[in-house]
Amino acid sequence: MAEVESMAGLKRTHLCGKLSLQNLDEEVVLMGWVHRRRDHGGLIFIDLRDRYGIVQIVFNPDLAGQAFSKAEEVRNEYVLAVKGKVTARPSGTINPNLTTGEIEIYATDLKILNKAKTPPFYISDDVEVDETIRLKYRYLDLRRTEMQKSLILRHKTTKAIRDFLDKHNFLEIETPMLTKSSPEGARDYLVPSRVNPGEFYALPQSPQLFKQILMVAGMDRYFQIARCFRDEDLRADRQPEFTQLDMEISFSDRETIITLVEEMMQYIFKETLNLDLSIPFPRLTYYEAMERFGSDKPDLRFKMELVDISDLVKSCNFKVFQSALATGGKVKGINAEGCGNYPRRQIDDLTKLAISCGSKGLAWIALTDEGLKSPIAKFLTEEELNNIIKKMGGKQGDLLLFVADSPSVVATVLGHLRLEFGKRLNLINPEEFNFSWIIDFPLLEWDPEEKRYVAIHHPFTAPLEADLDLLESEPDRVRAQAYDLVLNGVELGGGSIRIHNRSIQEKMFKLLGLTKEQSLEKFGYLLEAFEYGTPPHGGIAFGLDRMIMLMARKDTIRDVIAFPKTQSASDLMTQAPSPVEPKQLKELHIKLDIVTKKSSDVN
Ligand code: AMO
Ligand code: AMP
Repeated sequence: MAEVESMAGLKRTHLCGKLSLQNLDEEVVLMGWVHRRRDHGGLIFIDLRDRYGIVQIVFNPDLAGQAFSKAEEVRNEYVLAVKGKVTARPSGTINPNLTTGEIEIYATDLKILNKAKTPPFYISDDVEVDETIRLKYRYLDLRRTEMQKSLILRHKTTKAIRDFLDKHNFLEIETPMLTKSSPEGARDYLVPSRVNPGEFYALPQSPQLFKQILMVAGMDRYFQIARCFRDEDLRADRQPEFTQLDMEISFSDRETIITLVEEMMQYIFKETLNLDLSIPFPRLTYYEAMERFGSDKPDLRFKMELVDISDLVKSCNFKVFQSALATGGKVKGINAEGCGNYPRRQIDDLTKLAISCGSKGLAWIALTDEGLKSPIAKFLTEEELNNIIKKMGGKQGDLLLFVADSPSVVATVLGHLRLEFGKRLNLINPEEFNFSWIIDFPLLEWDPEEKRYVAIHHPFTAPLEADLDLLESEPDRVRAQAYDLVLNGVELGGGSIRIHNRSIQEKMFKLLGLTKEQSLEKFGYLLEAFEYGTPPHGGIAFGLDRMIMLMARKDTIRDVIAFPKTQSASDLMTQAPSPVEPKQLKELHIKLDIVTKKSSDVN
């Protein structure tokens, strides 16, 4: 049996992945993991891996008998120290896929620093491994090159951010984790206070109010790579704890912030991916984005715009269209080019998809090779049909899909179908980084369940000055000084110019249904701070995980976070969350009235 040995004075002299012909004939000491071992009758080859790459070690019984017999006992993922000489590989055995492929190390000495059990999966990028296993054995998963690349990219990105912002006079300031709830629309994670029985801290959903108060404090330009906590339904691009690049600037207007962010993105992409982004990024108003793409985070890597045909069908005989228009709705469509010969079953599946997004149905006109097919043709005159097809740019082989409903349902459903066809028809160039700004969001939105207005961004966002007069009379029409940065159909960041005046902030709280007492209880410290000389200010926060996910071309932010949670918010490696000792609960004056079984969750 192989014995585990000490490093016994051996000192690592080189990194496995960094050796090349330049090190020819040097004696080196390497340390790393056994990536693979091959026995070639008489010679043993070990690929030794460290964070920097892989190098081939050769054990020849004639040159180093003792090292050779130890190498016979070595298995995958054993930790080794190897002393040897850098040698040029014989021609014909050069491996162009390895950066160290022109050399190999002839071992003279081998120490087994640690053994390893057979891992539950092979440490390689080419092997598909179930994500639950990857998360349980995250330390093995993180040994894979792909995962290391993501974490290295993440490090380089935060470094580029810090370098850029430092040059632009920003101060990196930490804000508390144990804090009072700052509402960003999700549920809070609460932390009980032992010394204040019955009272709770909230983990920050974002540092929003602290960064505004830092502006009152005269810090002028703040940033933080800030951890945020939101108890919300998780998706591929949402985690319960995630990281924001959070920024705030005094005496700034929207232009200042937008320009600075564009320059920062340009700098980050150049430093990390050596890509030249062209700035300024295009801007769309919220209204335009919803009208043309059915989304406030449109993927602009492909066109397929929504077409409004309300005008063309306003006097048609199709009841569904009529009733939607009569109640202030719209009839709009998209052209799925080349899908005109879809079999009926596929169109039925699209209808189901539309219904799952909130539609009552899906009307369609198929321009098949055998002529026009449509369940709604019988309700339309020939002129109406022709006009519709013309406006939709329909030609033989196309499938035209229509939704009639309120403007927001029409947008949601067609926006969804548009994305579906963008993928199906390969209209999206996966290499592209397509940035855009969405500006002029509405300030408020009516929440029919709570029967009150809610802030679309957050309650501290300033209304557009031009719309201030509408604040009391027509709140729905007020636009916000808010902006989102969208990359490839993902909301990368959002921010706004803030209210910096107590009376407007109080008006805002009132509009949101807070009584004077409630607003004082929740936000009294902010209102009070506003009375001690508050500079006009604004800012933005970016989802750092989302940004790295897109830069690394991954499908989920879990792949760019070292230790992420599953869909049901648990950590499969540490098994958090978990029950705690009764003694701990007692100290916190907490009594449980439910006993739930911990679900073993899968994504
Ligand atoms: P907002 O709530 O829009 O704004 O958040 C900013 C950005 O954070 C990212 N993000 C998330 N990423 C991963 N998992 C989540 N659960 C999650 N939630 C949000 C998104 C989003 O664009 N304080 C304001 C910013 C400001 O006004 O300055 C805020 O937090 O990419
Ligand atoms: P019906 O007359 O209800 O059978 O509907 C005829 C066609 O219109 C079917 O293809 C339905 O899916 C479609 N349809 C129903 N409601 C809507 C709607 N709100 N918008 C678009 N199409 C609809």
